[in-house]
Amino acid sequence: MDKIKIIGGKPLFGKVYISGAKNTALPIICASLLTEEPVTVKNIPFLSDIKSLNNLLLQIGSQIEEKTEELNGHLTRTITYHTPQATSLVAPYDYVRKMRASYYVLGPLLARYGHVELSLPGGCAIGARPMDIHLSSLEQMGANIEIKNGYVVADIKGRLQGAHISFHSASVGATCNILMAAALAEGTTVIENAAKEPEIADLIDILNKMGAHIEGANTSTLTINGVEKLHGITHTIINDRIEAGSYAVAAAITKGRLELINANAEYLQTPLSILRKMGVKIEMTDSGFIVDAQNCTLQGHDVYTDYYPGFPTDLQAQFMALMCVSEGAAMITESIWENRFMHVPELMRMGANINVHGHASAIVRGVKKLSGAPVMSTDLRASFALILAGLAAEGETVVNRVYHLDRGYETLEEKFKAVGADIERIKESD
Ligand code: UD1
Repeated sequence: MDKIKIIGGKPLFGKVYISGAKNTALPIICASLLTEEPVTVKNIPFLSDIKSLNNLLLQIGSQIEEKTEELNGHLTRTITYHTPQATSLVAPYDYVRKMRASYYVLGPLLARYGHVELSLPGGCAIGARPMDIHLSSLEQMGANIEIKNGYVVADIKGRLQGAHISFHSASVGATCNILMAAALAEGTTVIENAAKEPEIADLIDILNKMGAHIEGANTSTLTINGVEKLHGITHTIINDRIEAGSYAVAAAITKGRLELINANAEYLQTPLSILRKMGVKIEMTDSGFIVDAQNCTLQGHDVYTDYYPGFPTDLQAQFMALMCVSEGAAMITESIWENRFMHVPELMRMGANINVHGHASAIVRGVKKLSGAPVMSTDLRASFALILAGLAAEGETVVNRVYHLDRGYETLEEKFKAVGADIERIKESD
């Protein structure tokens, strides 16, 4: 497995181009299964999660054509997905195991073909990750659902039926799945307590362009008037707010100054307000924003993860790394996932002072310096937090198991090298 070696202590200066949003690309790629016409998606990031999902669509029978294009100053991918007729309605274990978001094929395949078999994804490092909301909502829409041999087997005679559904948690995944299913259902579906993340608004945008009738984007009540058919379109996906937030922390933790191009500050209001309170300057530009922490004494600040527009759980680990080298104490509370402090022991190996209380909160007391060490990635965002700690630490840090990073951070070493980081990938064969 590849490793990443970092020699820390260098402030980062320059420009970072923020890529298309992984968590928007994944459901939008699956939305292409709702129509027999081609759907072209622009600004798709080069990530292993996208590759895994493309492989699943190929096995379902989609035709995929991709090209590289320049968009707003950097190279991006445009991919056309065309599924005139699915040749398989099965999402096998080997695909879903590699990439949980494969479950986004559930809603579209069931709505268009009346049958789907999806391997249950199971838990993952950050928690149990149940699917009860996805499944009970589809049942409320008339689907017959059984669990057989580790697979969800869902059937519907005729079309799914509109229903009034209330989610017990504002699940991003369930909101996407049910939006896609309801787009082709008969009658009106109302989702109460829907997720409001920007990724959902982008999915609604593409579905409406494909001919769906969905109202309520950016609110917690979504109304979907089902239609019989959707058609092909071209859509450019939004940029990745979590990647932007992660590089914002890179500027802060190295006391540097980074201009984040194609970053949308509107999607990051809570994390950016915390950075400001910590003493970091944030300046808006025409194409994004600048994060400036030169000569700044970072002050620790509490973080409480919550549903959007609250603080994103996917930036919790990165902000914890920042608190490790800030003055004073900071309480970090994780309210979304039950097991999302696995980076703590690794940060402590680098000299961080962290006390975890139960599963949900941790007190970080800032230290003057972290020191480089070999550390182990446990999940995607925790891995980036270790890279950040390595950039701020004295000496050499080697982050092991970096395949997690390749799932969600496009050309990470190139982006860091371009702004002055001493970072290199050690290939498995080296
Ligand atoms: C998505 C993101 C992930 C992020 C998470 C929360 C993708 C591909 N992944 O994951 O990076 O951390 O949102 O912002 O977009 N829940 C249930 N039952 C369900 C579904 C969810 O109880 O059927 C609970 C979960 O246990 C969790 C909460 O709802 O506590 C949020 O989960 P959800 O929003 O569904 O996360 P994902 O969509 O899997």
